[in-house]
Amino acid sequence: MADTRTATTRTATLLIDGKEVSLPILTPTEGPECLDIRRLYAEADVFTYDPGFTSTAACASTITFIDGDKGILLHRGYPIEQLAEKSHYLELCYLLLYGHLPKAAELEKFETLVTRHTMIHEQMHYFFRGFRRDAHPMATMVGVVGAMSAFYHDSLDINDPRQREIAAFRLIAKMPTIAAMAYKYSIGQPFVYPRNDLDYASNFLHMCFAVPAEPYDVDPTLARALDRIFMLHADHEQNASTSTVRLASSSGANPFACIAAGIACLWGPAHGGANQAALEMLREIGTVDRIPDFIARVKDKSSGQRLMGFGHRVYKNYDPRAKVMKQSADEVLDLLGIKNNPTLQVARELERIALEDDYFVSRKLYPNVDFYSGIILEAMGFPTSMFTPIFALARTVGWISQWQEQIADPQLRIGRPRQLYQGEAQRDYVEVEDR
Ligand code: ACO
Repeated sequence: MADTRTATTRTATLLIDGKEVSLPILTPTEGPECLDIRRLYAEADVFTYDPGFTSTAACASTITFIDGDKGILLHRGYPIEQLAEKSHYLELCYLLLYGHLPKAAELEKFETLVTRHTMIHEQMHYFFRGFRRDAHPMATMVGVVGAMSAFYHDSLDINDPRQREIAAFRLIAKMPTIAAMAYKYSIGQPFVYPRNDLDYASNFLHMCFAVPAEPYDVDPTLARALDRIFMLHADHEQNASTSTVRLASSSGANPFACIAAGIACLWGPAHGGANQAALEMLREIGTVDRIPDFIARVKDKSSGQRLMGFGHRVYKNYDPRAKVMKQSADEVLDLLGIKNNPTLQVARELERIALEDDYFVSRKLYPNVDFYSGIILEAMGFPTSMFTPIFALARTVGWISQWQEQIADPQLRIGRPRQLYQGEAQRDYVEVEDR
């Protein structure tokens, strides 16, 4: 494939102190064009300043596309709504990793490979035991996933495509086992080994909720709903945790260490931690009559209170994943016979009011994927502390696909941002008695 980063004919001209600098304009398949500033410092001796990357494309990618104004999310060109309705998580994993929808034989082989790698090294069980019982499962996951580097030496050579592929399979296959073990450990129950005869989501439910003392039958409808939650979280182009994985891997770090870095970044409440924070917020509001007071608090900037599960750096329209998630919440609660769930009532009313309120409308703040996911996960029996680990396990395929794409890129260079230095200018050291 031709390198579309250099095949450009249009340019923009920047005038700095009378000197003209020509910047190539790169054309994407979809979305805004990009000014190529790679030679700017060499030619004009200036940096660009963009903290938070609001106007900066940090890489070229072919995996996921988001149009935040129109509320569009495409994986390898396919709309998330179609994938959520017609596909399933492992097929989406294949699509993200390899770039095309698998033929039946390819899918079967991939599913077999993933389900055969679900167990973790037995010695890793002892690693879990080093954590306090009350450790947040995300703390355990950051540690255990990073520790995989110490257990799987045969997939650490990032320059070997086959080893990279094995690392990808291992991470996708073992992440549910690790997340379930982190949960079991936190509630003092024995670890439940994976069952390779179950599909990906059913196996995760089994590892979380089965106990040795009695049989556990996975409800296929719940498994399907969980599979959809996994799909909705699978990838989201260059978000904070994915960019963290890319930056970590740009130094040549091994895949397990890079994914551990992604998990650490995801944990924050402005990112993956928002699903836990959103449900805690809905519970704190408690009843519909308390919503106006809460909205007033959110609008009062001095309160520091945000409407969790609302707003997005890229979506300035309804997050398409939130639409599917809202529908799933209705289906799952219906299936479980949960009528008049107060949390769902608060969520629906909060959304209705927020979508009409000028504060939110003028700032284009809409529900994001995390607004309804917690309600579904809670109804399935997961405690809030497991919401972000579930996000992490589902996002692993996105991280690893983006990692693969970056390592295979011949233009890979270490990520090394520059800065606008505003500290002291050079000055001489002062002896302690003279200060
Ligand atoms: N509640 C109230 N006000 C908000 C919210 C919110 N959730 N989100 C943004 N705003 C306001 C800001 O105060 C700011 O107002 P101002 O212009 O008067 O100063 C304006 O909207 C723009 O907000 P920024 O913080 O500049 O937007 P940014 O793109 O940096 O932040 C973010 C995006 C972090 C997602 C933010 O909307 C937020 O904190 N949301 C709540 C947390 C959340 O749900 N995170 C999940 C994101 S999706 C994901 O990771 C899966």
